[in-house]
Amino acid sequence: MKSKLQVCAVALSMGAAAVACLCAAPAWAQAVPDNGRETNAAAAGWPERAVRGAKGMVASDEQIASRVGVDILKKGGNAVDAAVAVSFALAVVEPAAGNIGGGGFTLVRLADGRAGFVDYREIAPGKASRDMYVRADGTLDEEGSTIGYRSVAVPGTVAGLELALKTYGTMKLADVMAPAIRLAEEGFPVSEKLARELEEERRDLQRFSWSGKIFLNDGKMYKPGDILRQPALAATLRRIAKNGSAEFYRGETARTLVQEMTGQGGLITLDDLVNYKPKIREVLRAKYRVGGDEWEVIAAPPPSSGGVAMIEALNMLQDTELKGWEDAESVHMTAEAMRRVFADRAAYLADPDFAKVPVQGLTDPCYAKELAATINPQHASSSQTVRAGIPHTCGTRAGGANSTSAAPPVIASFGEGPHTTHFSVVDAAGNAAATTTTLNDSYGSHVATSAGFLLNDEMDDFTTQPGVPNKLFGLIQSEANAIAPEKRPLSSMTPTILVRNGKLSFVTGSPGGPRIISATLLSVLNWMRLGMDAQAAINAPRFHHQWMPDALRVEPAFSEAVARELEARGHKVTQVGHIGLVNAIGIDPRTGERLGAADPRDHGAAEGY
Ligand code: DON
Repeated sequence: MKSKLQVCAVALSMGAAAVACLCAAPAWAQAVPDNGRETNAAAAGWPERAVRGAKGMVASDEQIASRVGVDILKKGGNAVDAAVAVSFALAVVEPAAGNIGGGGFTLVRLADGRAGFVDYREIAPGKASRDMYVRADGTLDEEGSTIGYRSVAVPGTVAGLELALKTYGTMKLADVMAPAIRLAEEGFPVSEKLARELEEERRDLQRFSWSGKIFLNDGKMYKPGDILRQPALAATLRRIAKNGSAEFYRGETARTLVQEMTGQGGLITLDDLVNYKPKIREVLRAKYRVGGDEWEVIAAPPPSSGGVAMIEALNMLQDTELKGWEDAESVHMTAEAMRRVFADRAAYLADPDFAKVPVQGLTDPCYAKELAATINPQHASSSQTVRAGIPHTCGTRAGGANSTSAAPPVIASFGEGPHTTHFSVVDAAGNAAATTTTLNDSYGSHVATSAGFLLNDEMDDFTTQPGVPNKLFGLIQSEANAIAPEKRPLSSMTPTILVRNGKLSFVTGSPGGPRIISATLLSVLNWMRLGMDAQAAINAPRFHHQWMPDALRVEPAFSEAVARELEARGHKVTQVGHIGLVNAIGIDPRTGERLGAADPRDHGAAEGY
């Protein structure tokens, strides 16, 4: 490691604190002017500047949804009112990932400093069991957990959005749902992106009659510019707006869902729906000093693995001088941190209501220091020899070098292209919401109900077979994430909020399965450590390492020369499509303006005022 510094982090997680200090101003602490060096914007025709707004901002995958959020803000709604409105709007205009049949997380930080994490992750149905996707011959039924009725977990979105609104919002559910109802009823123009996606998903969508009817226009297919009306969804949204989440979990919608599941292999019962409970969880917090500024990272607790991974990686990189992603050593050190974080994820992360997750140890700076010491600054480690560590807090050193996590088998699959959606909201008062929501795969299980919405395939996020990578993301996961009734599958969704010198500074998050963690981490490093401006932090080329497979994935815009240098250091570099879709908002520290930085990789849009 190159650091000439003595740097210390203050990591606070779940109430535990450990303190350290920064003794000299590091080179990476200097704000780097946005000189375009870190962006690939020019080449791609991407925006080089963030959208500026004096008061409020929404950055999401869909311009229509971002506008819905801004309209709510202009009407006096706060960031959470807008976030709930945007979520429902995305359930209409971004059917690949926006949903009422899935789940998600909303991280909230209010202007007065209070924060909370709304967890509306799906749960396994009561009839689910550990080996439900393992065939009699011992092989994994990969289709079972990814497509069709058996892959569906009990949806959490409607209950979660209602809870978020009641806890942090100011408006009535009917008022924040009104724009979504209008979009479903009157329709909206099909974009090129949506038409292309529906064509790509045609084979799987046409297997389910309501999916074919709604999204494939009964086989006639939608072209760009066609109007997509969803009357069944509009009727369901109207009932929810009138009766609240009770409609979804015990009303007509619930009965329809259960009736359609029965006889098709689906496991969800009325009891499962009635018993679903979203939760407000304590956020994870970590503090850092960077170039004279005090930063606080507010992150997602389990059942997300994202916040733990984010803090563990940031802690590990504390003493590393980061120069940017044109510098092979900076990429190498960050990739090695990712490798170790994902090894720990595989061993320890799971639903905290079912497993004891060592959050304090994993996010402790002393533990990170030990892990960082195992990184060879010149040469790549091998994932076959990197195992999960033994997490512990300062002064409670555990013995032994490695945990009990098993040596992983070779993993062949790594999902490409599935979808989830992240959006960020900041209001005029400085309240912020970061929401990541998903059906898991693009179009989830591909099953739509006659009530007009798609159902998730979140069951694939469990350890579908211990020791075997899951179908969509090739992730090795532990017994702690095994399937059990009412358990939440482990998630990588990583909504994150940064505070600088006590003031809101950056709101971020991404889709991308495990790549979520890397994409969000890089956005945070770009903003906090490299001093990029908001849009540059989103445009900069990304890379991802998830321990297994032992591959360093890089985006097409990643520097060829750096890729070769990394290969010389022993990394197996492979090029993939885009890594994540980060829709973030930065706050200009001088003017307080909101800087909406949507991800141009797939037509994200920021709207502000
Ligand atoms: O919760 C998770 O980690 C996954 N279900 C997210 C899936 C995802 O991001 C797919 N997309 N890009």
